Amino acid sequence: MLDDLKANNRDWAARKTAGDPGFFKRLVGQQAPQYFWIGCSDSRVPANEIVGLDPGEMFVHRNVANLAPPQDANYLSVLQFAVDVIKVKHILVVGHYGCGGIAAAVDGQRRGLVDHWLHPIREVHQEHRHELDAMPDQRARLDRLCELNVIRQVRNVASDVFVQDAWARGQSICVHGWVYSIENGLITDLGVDVGGPEALQSLEDDS
Ligand code: CO
Repeated sequence: MLDDLKANNRDWAARKTAGDPGFFKRLVGQQAPQYFWIGCSDSRVPANEIVGLDPGEMFVHRNVANLAPPQDANYLSVLQFAVDVIKVKHILVVGHYGCGGIAAAVDGQRRGLVDHWLHPIREVHQEHRHELDAMPDQRARLDRLCELNVIRQVRNVASDVFVQDAWARGQSICVHGWVYSIENGLITDLGVDVGGPEALQSLEDDS
């Protein structure tokens, strides 16, 4: 089984260099991606592939339910590197409909450590309880919770001191919220585009 993966890898590398002999050599010196993707670990949501980007074109951080928790050293380290060193122009927070992490956060079952990880989603759920309870069925509620979670994580990213300091230095960074559909492969843009403190303030006022 793993031999298949190694064979796939050799084929892939050969295809890359067949069309562009300098492909890998160019990437050795540096990476200079414009985009930073914060997405779910779900195997059905492969970041680069969905948006048609090659190696070197997108910096990626993935965890269960695409969270940006302000106390998580892993996420913060990746965020700081993306903002301060790579100087990405766009940060994409990408959730997906049918997210198991979102469903697990609110189904009342106990699973262990992951329940703590998913706690921020329960907070979002609680804050939007009236809107969610008014929805026709559980599927619609969970889809909306996926969207609300993305919007919350956009706020977390945009309000982080690394991003705030970058804006204060005049660096151009815009944070976006998207949701991917595993049913048809398409991305929905939630229309939350935060490119500075004023846009963050109006998003906070709306939420
Ligand atoms: Co997920």
